[in-house]
Amino acid sequence: MICLGIESTAHTFGIGIVDDKGKILANVKDVFTTEKGGMIPVEVAKHHRNCYKDVIQKALDVAGIKLEDVGLIAFSQGPGLAPALLVGLDVAKELVKKLNVPVIGVNHCIAHLEIGNLVTGAKDPVLLYASGANTQIIAYEGSKYRIFGETLDMGVGNFIDSFAREMGIGFPGGPKIEKLALKGKNFIELPYVVKGMDVSFSGLLTNLKQKFHSGKFSKEDLCYSMQETVFAMLLEVSERAMAHCNKNELLLGGGVCCNKRLQEMAKKMCQERGSKCFIPENSLLVDNAAMIAWLGITEHKAGVKTELDIKPYQRTDQVEVKWR
Ligand code: ATP
Ligand code: FE2
Repeated sequence: MICLGIESTAHTFGIGIVDDKGKILANVKDVFTTEKGGMIPVEVAKHHRNCYKDVIQKALDVAGIKLEDVGLIAFSQGPGLAPALLVGLDVAKELVKKLNVPVIGVNHCIAHLEIGNLVTGAKDPVLLYASGANTQIIAYEGSKYRIFGETLDMGVGNFIDSFAREMGIGFPGGPKIEKLALKGKNFIELPYVVKGMDVSFSGLLTNLKQKFHSGKFSKEDLCYSMQETVFAMLLEVSERAMAHCNKNELLLGGGVCCNKRLQEMAKKMCQERGSKCFIPENSLLVDNAAMIAWLGITEHKAGVKTELDIKPYQRTDQVEVKWR
């Protein structure tokens, strides 16, 4: 069976086509961007409505199939921006009407985890999910994917992007900060905010802005120190979750995990504790629809049925995991 997945939780409108063996036939996307970098939900939805037909066609072309070959539709049900999610739901409804095939709504965060398992061979990992809006440490325990730690305020990617905007280096800030950080030489002490199993970035953001405007520190040193501090925070809670759950695999997911320094630090932490570190390629770390299609197939095979609606505030642990 071939599943067509639709991703539309935030910036990215994506169509992924995956077969029931886990072969990714297409993973195509169109990403909403602005000069200023702000994300107005209604604008994002407009972008998705304008591009969805082209993205579907492109995905079918890449996969070398016809729309009629699709036997299952999957869409991201949440969490995400309601206006953007609604576009995905509408596209799903339109395709289901045309094809008369089953449809399934899936959780975006769990999709990051399951595509990671598929492509890396991880079996039972702790997932460090670090993206724009999300920062969570997730693991399977007691028949659910549970959140063992998370951000108490903003997602780490949004934090990084806000700092980049403050320095006037554009959007998205992550890749630019990564480059600047390579030239940093002096480590500047910054607030290290881990509270129990959770992290927080707002105080750190204020501190960085003040340091930047004081003119006493170079951009390079600030970027370098920010990365070292924030990635250490993320990995401290990841490591604690691994110890607590007695798991010896760490999986990375989310756009921030494209960062090579974070990858290096994650590998080192795993090596030191005799664990394995699994890192999917960038196109499967960032928001993508192949992961939606794959989780759709996985849940469908397990007999999961969902409503045709969106769940903008769905939490990872609200999903009944019937496929493990
Ligand atoms: P979500 O809705 O899941 O929160 P998102 O729409 O923010 O996701 P992603 O593609 O997962 O999308 O992540 C985008 C974020 O990743 C941006 O904040 C961007 O700055 C950050 N990012 C991308 N590359 C890097 C990098 N090399 N280093 C640090 N951050 C990065
Ligand atoms: Fe995501």
